Amino acid sequence: MTLPYPHLLAPLDLGFTQLKNRVLMGSMHTGLEESNDGFKKLAAFYAERAKGGVGLIVTGGFSPNFRGRLHPLSAQFSSGRAARAHRTITDAVHEHGGKIALQLLHAGRYAMHPFALSASHIRAPISKFTPFEMSERQILKTIKDFAKKCRAGPRSWLRRRGDHGF
Ligand SMILES: Cc1cc2nc3c(=O)[nH]c(=O)nc-3n(C[C@H](O)[C@H](O)[C@H](O)COP(=O)(O)O)c2cc1C
Repeated sequence: MTLPYPHLLAPLDLGFTQLKNRVLMGSMHTGLEESNDGFKKLAAFYAERAKGGVGLIVTGGFSPNFRGRLHPLSAQFSSGRAARAHRTITDAVHEHGGKIALQLLHAGRYAMHPFALSASHIRAPISKFTPFEMSERQILKTIKDFAKKCRAGPRSWLRRRGDHGF
C-alpha cells in the first residue's frame, strides 16, 4: 500500500534549521497574546502542540509597528525586549522537539482603530475605520519596520545566542 503523503513524517532540512517532520500548525491568534501572563499561557498552549508532534508552529500575528496593530492594544514585536520575552515560548516548544516561527502581521485596512494605514483609503467592509492612504515615506518606513526593527533588535540578541530563534 502506498501512503498518500510518504514524506509527511520525514525530517526536513531548511538549511538554517531542521524540522523533525513536515506537519505545520498554521497561524492562529488566540487572544492570549494580549492577556495577563499571556506569554506563559502561550508557552503552555504551544508546548502541548509540540508534544503532540507538530514539526513547525507558526504563531498568531504580531505587528511590526503601532499602526499595523489589529486593535490598539494588540501584540507588537519590534524590539530586543520583545524577542527576549518570546523566549519563554520558544524554549517551551524546543523542550518538546518542536520549532516555532513568529508571524509578523500588519493589519492594513483591517486595523480596528483610527490610525489604520493601507494601500488606499478604501475602508474594509468589516471595519468602521477608514484607513489613511500610505505616503511613499510611510511605505518605506513600514518596509523598514518589517526588515530592520524586527531583525536588528531581536537578531543581534539571537546572534549572541548562536541561533535563529526557531
Ligand atoms: C481563531 C483564529 C485565529 C487566526 N489568526 C490568524 C493570524 O493571526 N494570522 C493569520 O495569518 N491567520 C490567522 N488565522 C487563519 C488561519 O491561519 C487559517 O489560515 C484559516 O483558519 C484557514 O484554515 P482552515 O480552513 O483550516 O480553518 C486564524 C484563524 C482562526 C480560526
